[in-house]
Amino acid sequence: MSSFENLRIVDNFYQTSLFFPMPTVVISTLCEDGTTSLGPYSLVQPYYVAGKDYYAMLLCCRNSSNTAQNILRNGKCTLNFIDDDPATFKEAVKLSWPGDKPSEKMPRCKFKLEKSMIEEETGEARPMVLTDAIEAIECTWMRALDGADKDLPGELNGYEGPYHDFNGITSKFGAHFILRVDKILMKKRYSDAIIAGVTAKDFPPLPVDYGYRDSKNFWFHRKRRMRAELLQVRKASLESVRYAADRVDDKVKFTDEALATVLGVPRVFLPLVLKGCVAWAKENGVERITAEHMQIINDKRAKEKEKKKK
Ligand SMILES: Cc1cc2nc3c(=O)[nH]c(=O)nc-3n(C[C@H](O)[C@H](O)[C@H](O)COP(=O)(O)O)c2cc1C
Repeated sequence: MSSFENLRIVDNFYQTSLFFPMPTVVISTLCEDGTTSLGPYSLVQPYYVAGKDYYAMLLCCRNSSNTAQNILRNGKCTLNFIDDDPATFKEAVKLSWPGDKPSEKMPRCKFKLEKSMIEEETGEARPMVLTDAIEAIECTWMRALDGADKDLPGELNGYEGPYHDFNGITSKFGAHFILRVDKILMKKRYSDAIIAGVTAKDFPPLPVDYGYRDSKNFWFHRKRRMRAELLQVRKASLESVRYAADRVDDKVKFTDEALATVLGVPRVFLPLVLKGCVAWAKENGVERITAEHMQIINDKRAKEKEKKKK
């Protein structure tokens, strides 16, 4: 017999039938007249995290919202991560009344805005960035994905089908946007911590949001004490790594000292790592890879990663 109750799965199941922890962002978008509008959102998450030509976030929202309509119109938005001060969350909730036009809600809004870093650098029109945000992601909607480039703004009473599966207008009242990450902005204190390596006290005070419940309240909690859980690195034996290494190539071989440097690599990644080393050896006319060669290969990889980040 199950130790659980079985809940009905209904519309907005994530906040009606679950306790689902979410982030809180205030999304800035560009209106037709060039002003910036703000709307609070939680259904945002990383979407393409590696292995593609770009990185992307996913936003799920009502297609008649100012945010969706502006993204459909000009494809630009910024996800601003607000702090967990109850006054900040209150200000975000104030921006959430469906149907409020930017001209109605923005004059009452207390959030401070500043020019986008991309606009400063390139002159391209971009939504403003929330000065009060801890971090922000400047994004571009990838409208070509899923054939969504024909989706247009202007329909506020529900779009007719056919609908896309995962990008653009996805149902009568719904939209999903795959948003390319163009720039990540962060307040210095936190970017310093990321660069230097974080400790428990370096994490920013971001709220955890449980959505709109009881037809009345948005529920959230403030940041709590951070804890670190050490990953127990499982070291492979030299023999098992030697077994894999000897089968990567018939000419290029590894010394024991070279293989000792990859004992901590998880088994699933080992073939890829060894193949990368063999490819480097072939390019450089090496037939016996030593620990010194492994150091050179590692340095090269680190440099390539650094280049990709820029
Ligand atoms: C904390 C919070 C999170 C929200 N998350 C979402 C969301 O992920 N998707 C959505 O469609 N609406 C969400 N809403 C409701 C929107 O804010 C609401 O539809 C609002 O009218 C949107 O503003 P806009 O029309 O200016 O874009 C959220 C509201 C709050 C207060």
